[in-house]
Amino acid sequence: MKEILSEIGRLNHIAIAVPDIEKASSIWENALGANITSTQSLPEHGVKVVFIESPNTKVELLEPLTNQSPISKFLERNPNGGMHHICYEVSNLENAAKKLKSVGAKILGDGFPKIGAHGNPVIFLNPGDFSGTLIELEEIK
Ligand code: CO
Repeated sequence: MKEILSEIGRLNHIAIAVPDIEKASSIWENALGANITSTQSLPEHGVKVVFIESPNTKVELLEPLTNQSPISKFLERNPNGGMHHICYEVSNLENAAKKLKSVGAKILGDGFPKIGAHGNPVIFLNPGDFSGTLIELEEIK
């Protein structure tokens, strides 16, 4: 029997890069009637963020704080904004990373978890392995 190292968990969030977070969040709020949080700056991640809450997950709008941010590079290619990544929860990131390496999927950066925007360890996976989609795995205890 095949050893199962990790199980994919809840969809934690979908992240959308936007050039103007105030403008973007007001349309989500006014047109969709969404519950949105106030804007937070996360300088260590180089972004401003707003969370749009829905019953089963959340959407995060991300605006870059500087042009050094990876989000800035994304916006150069997608000036009106667009979906940047999706984030799944996993219960054990180390096991998930082992499993990914064993099937040849690449982890971005040095391959080791970093502390993400919610204070939990995260890794990002090579979009080329996942239908062109950047996937974040976040360890939720
Ligand atoms: Co994220």
